Amino acid sequence: MSQHPSQTRRVFAIISHPDAGKTTLTETMLLSAGAIHQAGRVAARGEARRTQSDWMKIEQERGISVSSSVMTFEHKDLTFNLLDTPGHEDFSEDTYRTLTAADSAIMVLDAAKGIEPQTLKLFEVCRMRNIPIVTFINKLDREARDPFETLAEIEDKLQLHVVPMQWPAGSGRRFGGMADLRNDKFYPFSANADQQPAAIEFTPECLSTAGLDDVLIDEVIEEAELAKEYPDFKLQSFLDGDMTPVYFGSALRKFGITQLIDALAEFVPGPQTETAKKNGQPVEITPSSKEVSGFVFKVQANMDPNHRDRVAFVRLSSGEFKRGMKLKTAENKTISVHNPILFFAQDRELADNAYAGDVIGVPNHGALRVGDSLSESGKLRFAGIPNFAPEILRRARPLDPLKAKHLRKALESLAEEGVTQLFRPAMGSDMIVGAVGSLQIDVMAERIKTEYNLEVVFESAIYQIARWVSGEREAVEAFAAKNQGAMATDLDGAPVLLAKSAWDVGYAQDKNPELKFLKTKERS
Ligand code: G4P
Repeated sequence: MSQHPSQTRRVFAIISHPDAGKTTLTETMLLSAGAIHQAGRVAARGEARRTQSDWMKIEQERGISVSSSVMTFEHKDLTFNLLDTPGHEDFSEDTYRTLTAADSAIMVLDAAKGIEPQTLKLFEVCRMRNIPIVTFINKLDREARDPFETLAEIEDKLQLHVVPMQWPAGSGRRFGGMADLRNDKFYPFSANADQQPAAIEFTPECLSTAGLDDVLIDEVIEEAELAKEYPDFKLQSFLDGDMTPVYFGSALRKFGITQLIDALAEFVPGPQTETAKKNGQPVEITPSSKEVSGFVFKVQANMDPNHRDRVAFVRLSSGEFKRGMKLKTAENKTISVHNPILFFAQDRELADNAYAGDVIGVPNHGALRVGDSLSESGKLRFAGIPNFAPEILRRARPLDPLKAKHLRKALESLAEEGVTQLFRPAMGSDMIVGAVGSLQIDVMAERIKTEYNLEVVFESAIYQIARWVSGEREAVEAFAAKNQGAMATDLDGAPVLLAKSAWDVGYAQDKNPELKFLKTKERS
């Protein structure tokens, strides 16, 4: 039987702390896989977009990447979809959602720094779904920490079994290359990124011929022996999210990259069976199921500044999608997908067919929201992508008081993209905006200015905390009636308690044990 096309798809993301080298690695991987032909093209493309889109000014000024996208490349008859996750900590919710669409992740660590705060946070998100993780220890061309220490740190902080697949010879100025522990080959390192030498035998004689000094040769041979003491790599443990194979290299010097992509091709899984609900009952959706289905994990506005369109990024879960198809959301909204976009490193193409594990961009005018399920029958609903309670709340008002209605529309439409949230208090006409971090508030102000031509003022709100109120309908309604001054609704009309302090939430909980005050809300 010929294999289903979905079996050749690999959807993955890169998680890292800012500056560990994610952008450089992305670019080098695309380059090595032949998806782009010139270093700097990913950045160059960003540059081109920046000049078109003003709100990206913040990105430029702060030197961070706040928008995510997907890049496709091919290697060894597999199609890889790399989901780019924003690195800034304020965007953890957005990142979380992107990670729900990935089947595996590469964790990039700076060889001198090991696990950093953002690595840990993102790892925890991966752990929630137990997705397999390949570790890449980057920047070996700079002074690194003892790799044994870094491995111990991974085991200790992430509770993950590590299996070094390679071992580096020194680091920084002494960096001589690395041994492949599975086949006793050695890859000598050259500081010239475009001239990495071919593999040699991992023997003292060959290393010496390759120019390594005797001290370094003794060191790497001894350390490689010790590294082999780690447990053997077990594919199933990796797939279960319990074990990570560890690779080393330098993204900047294009060293170790082919080996990393080979490892992805060898180990990372394709699309898996997912559990969805059909008419309220759980059903298993296998990638080869007949019905086309998928879910929206990201909505991005203004990809094309000439249009007010948004692009919903849909990760397909099953079936053979054909261009022009009609798909329905679980709320029974019909979407005709006439111009689905496939994303390549530099280009976007119209997709005629797509399968589970493909990501298609669906242009729309706001009909699709993050977390929406799409299927032919409209009856499938994938497990919700939760909303997280915002960490900061701000009251929004227009500089020109006559523009309140315009501002509400703008805030609603930004909230529909799923990056920020909007709460409407039960009393009064305030607009309360919630975000994970203050940077999002700045981005929002900038976008409202450039996209809606509105000046917005964000002021501190009297509320500090938002919690979704959940329980029996009557109980929730009774609570809302009694606490009108502190109640609000979110974009979907769900009841939210806006509290001035954690103490208030605790008090409400004590007095109303039949209710739950939730930090996350699954879309039902
Ligand atoms: P990020 O997306 O994870 O935030 O990291 P990014 O790739 O932007 O890399 C952060 C910095 O680290 C960049 O330097 C980049 O050139 C450097 N870098 C990435 N990989 C390596 C590596 O393997 N070796 C060395 N030595 N450096 C590496 P920068 O000075 O901040 O930026 P740039 O001026 O080089 O663009």
